[in-house]
Amino acid sequence: MTGVWHPNTQMAEWGEFGTIVRGEGMWLVDSDGHRMLDAVASMWCNVWGHSEPELVSALARQAENLQHAPLFNLTHPSAERLAEHLLRMCPEMDGVFYSDNGSTAMEAAFKMAVQYWDNQGAADKVRIAGLEGGYHGDTLGAMAAGYSAGFFGRYEGMIPQGVRLRIPRPGDGSEEWDACLDEAAPILENDETLAAMAMESGAQVAGGARIYPPRFQRDMADLCRRNGVLVIFDEVATGLGRLGAMAEYSRQGAEPDIVSYSKMLTGGYLPMAATLATGRVREAFLGRHGENLHLFHGHTYTGNPLAAAVACRNMEMYRERSLLEHVRRISGEFGGLVRAAEDMDIVAEVRHEAMLAGIRLDWEPPAGHSANHILYHIGRKNGVYLRTLGSTILVVPPLAIGEDELRQMVSGVLDTVRDVALR
Ligand SMILES: Cc1ncc(COP(=O)(O)O)c(C=O)c1O
Repeated sequence: MTGVWHPNTQMAEWGEFGTIVRGEGMWLVDSDGHRMLDAVASMWCNVWGHSEPELVSALARQAENLQHAPLFNLTHPSAERLAEHLLRMCPEMDGVFYSDNGSTAMEAAFKMAVQYWDNQGAADKVRIAGLEGGYHGDTLGAMAAGYSAGFFGRYEGMIPQGVRLRIPRPGDGSEEWDACLDEAAPILENDETLAAMAMESGAQVAGGARIYPPRFQRDMADLCRRNGVLVIFDEVATGLGRLGAMAEYSRQGAEPDIVSYSKMLTGGYLPMAATLATGRVREAFLGRHGENLHLFHGHTYTGNPLAAAVACRNMEMYRERSLLEHVRRISGEFGGLVRAAEDMDIVAEVRHEAMLAGIRLDWEPPAGHSANHILYHIGRKNGVYLRTLGSTILVVPPLAIGEDELRQMVSGVLDTVRDVALR
């Protein structure tokens, strides 16, 4: 065991980790020269593959010029340009607040929502509602809005009290989604302490690729709006093309008051996040010095120039290389390939939308072992890097993956499922 304490990992179980020394396109290469296709897009971030020359040179150019300057009292061209890109992508939004990762993007969103009301004298609106099974990160506010007992039960006592809205369990009929909306309605109507409702846009990814049925997100947002509850969409994992649209909320026909992005914003190269708000929200923070209306939030590396420059280049490349058209073209094939798993007895369910798939296994690891540990090692043998969520295998290819490597990736995943069945 080395000194590195790995995230969400039972260190005694793992003992040793593969050492990745190089990234080459869609491949991760370890110190033994073993190659694995990155079927997790390096935690759902990677867009173009590893070592993409355009992003590397955007980083180098910015590094030669300005590595870091604060957004406290100052601005810099890369932060300004990135805000322009984001506001073009989300024309309904008016302001961009930067932070470093998905959790902080959501914390900023929650604080914006609470202070939005407080600035208008509604100091009792302090709670955030979230959907059961939702995930918004590992920080306190994010744990409250995206609470799951399995992930966060150990911290229950320190987590701010949120409101959890039910969504259907796997296997429930589709009519259950409407029943959940009916249950949410009186809560959103009567709970005077609610500042906002937060939900992942399009699908719950960490929840096992739970894809919402058409209209669910829009109906939930409408319900909030009718009851004066702000709408926060978390597009950290599902925006920027993962489900087929840059702003996933536009595909859902639902408008947020606040929306967050991170993960693929820099193509998976540097930590960066953005929380966007509408003009109505932003204006509630304007006033005279001394009224204390401004947002009391900021991080040291907020809007870091290196990350912002890479994010700008990344967003330009989406357009130059017509990435969403590529996603549209290739995602049908991806769905067809991954759905072959439905024929396997060990597979309980396959979920797929655009460049996201989840294969839920009807299988439990032996007592004292984690499914993730077992599946990682079998995946490695089959040439794919996997990080699974319990017995659900998420397949999250870098968006720009070509047909051959996509086929090879899914085939490595299906071989892994077959090997688990034979154990
Ligand atoms: C939807 C969603 N929101 C927020 C987060 C938290 O992002 P980070 O891990 O960068 O803090 C994640 C991470 O997986 C996520 O999937």
